[in-house]
Amino acid sequence: MSRPGKPVLVVLGVLVLHTVVFAQNAGFVKSPLSETKLTGDTFELYCDVIGTPTPEVQWWYAEVDSVNGFIQLWDGARGQRVSINTAYGSNGVSVLAVVRVITGDSGIYECRASNNPQRNDLHQNPSTVWIRAQATVTVLQKPLINVTDHITLPTDTNLPQVTLQCNLTTVSYNHRWSYWTKNGEEIPTTRTEQKNIEYKINKPRAEDAGEYMCVYTFELAPLANASIEVKSAPDITGHKRSENKNEGERAVLYCKSVGYPHPLWTWRKLGEGASFDIDNSSGRFFISNKDNYTELSIINLDIESDPGEYECSANNMIGNSTMTSVLRVRSHLAPLWPLLGVLAEIIVLVLIIVIYEKRKKPDEVPDAGPMKTNSTNNHKDKNLRQRNTN
Ligand SMILES: *[C@@H]1O[C@H](CO)[C@@H](O)[C@H](O)[C@H]1NC(C)=O
Ligand SMILES: *[C@@H]1O[C@H](CO)[C@@H](O)[C@H](O)[C@H]1NC(C)=O
Ligand SMILES: *[C@@H]1O[C@H](CO)[C@@H](O)[C@H](O)[C@H]1NC(C)=O
Ligand SMILES: *[C@@H]1O[C@H](CO)[C@@H](O)[C@H](O)[C@H]1NC(C)=O
Ligand SMILES: *[C@@H]1O[C@H](CO)[C@@H](O)[C@H](O)[C@H]1NC(C)=O
Ligand SMILES: *[C@@H]1O[C@H](CO)[C@@H](O)[C@H](O)[C@H]1NC(C)=O
Repeated sequence: MSRPGKPVLVVLGVLVLHTVVFAQNAGFVKSPLSETKLTGDTFELYCDVIGTPTPEVQWWYAEVDSVNGFIQLWDGARGQRVSINTAYGSNGVSVLAVVRVITGDSGIYECRASNNPQRNDLHQNPSTVWIRAQATVTVLQKPLINVTDHITLPTDTNLPQVTLQCNLTTVSYNHRWSYWTKNGEEIPTTRTEQKNIEYKINKPRAEDAGEYMCVYTFELAPLANASIEVKSAPDITGHKRSENKNEGERAVLYCKSVGYPHPLWTWRKLGEGASFDIDNSSGRFFISNKDNYTELSIINLDIESDPGEYECSANNMIGNSTMTSVLRVRSHLAPLWPLLGVLAEIIVLVLIIVIYEKRKKPDEVPDAGPMKTNSTNNHKDKNLRQRNTN
């Protein structure tokens, strides 16, 4: 009896729910945040809105203290420097990005959202049908930093010293700290309040090569930096000299280097005074490279084809470096050899004893027996004689 009633109830329920949810106005889940940028940088503003139906999202812009009011932004505005990416799902999510910013990009950016069916009706007051969230973006002139040119360390001679210099030249806001970084990490004890800074590297070697940066921080502005590359040929500072494995096992050879830029790695096999590309027709060779590290793994080792010398080479535009590793592959039986050795020793020992015993018996037995009995007999005789005399 109640069977035909259930689907009707469900449909009714869905309809009721739908109308209740339908009444949900647009609301911000995430609104754009104010920020300060330097010319040439990129900024992105996020806007995430909820509502049913999913609200429409728009971006608007006004200069600070502008009398003209807001103008709408579109994807591709300002000579393609503005991009707007909006995804409509259960929420409306929009990202406004401005690249290669100029001081004229400073101003108020507004995210507007609405799901009101009359939102685009010109007779409606926009401020009642659209909700709005604002962020202020300030773009400051990037300070000029005069830097020394990139340096290449010579491969044949050793320089006594190289000096990296940065001079902060034009800046219209308060400078706080200067420091140096190498490969993205601050070099300890380089922090100073000076605007003209120097970093000296004594007797520079391959491990001193890398990307150096001078970084300037300011009181009310983002940090500014300039980079100086110190390049050198790679130098392989670590490798596996030899690897001993059993056939069927997996061998791993590696090499690691210093020097900058990071090298391109190659592995080759040596034989008869020449080197060859590795023959991977069996599909057992795997190479994995990670910047200054390379690894060659050989799985399911073959005792016939795999043993030998393998060579890793590191190459960059400045030079190259090569190291060799020896791979030895033992037979499956190898782990049994010590046991077999002991067994063989025991067998040989037993044989020696048996042979020795066999030879010894016919000679010694008749010799030693009578002598002993003779001597005791002699003693007995002596005693007997002595008693007799007493
Ligand atoms: C930085 O300034 C010093 C003088 O303070 C000057 O000797 C040096 O050449 C400058 N360096 C660069 C890279 O402009
Ligand atoms: C920056 O360096 C250039 C040469 O590299 C020089 O002509 C210029 O005067 C320097 N600027 C300042 C402010 O020192
Ligand atoms: C250098 O400046 C850029 C922005 O111009 C910034 O993204 C980067 O993190 C800075 N690097 C360092 C090491 O400060
Ligand atoms: C290899 O490079 C990583 C970063 O890329 C660095 O942390 C590591 O110290 C380097 N290793 C050597 C041996 O230079
Ligand atoms: C060797 O062959 C295997 C299987 O085809 C492949 O996955 C592997 O990347 C190859 N190794 C090299 C160094 O080319
Ligand atoms: C390695 O460097 C030497 C000079 O140092 C050069 O003759 C040789 O061609 C280089 N090899 C490779 C593979 O780049």
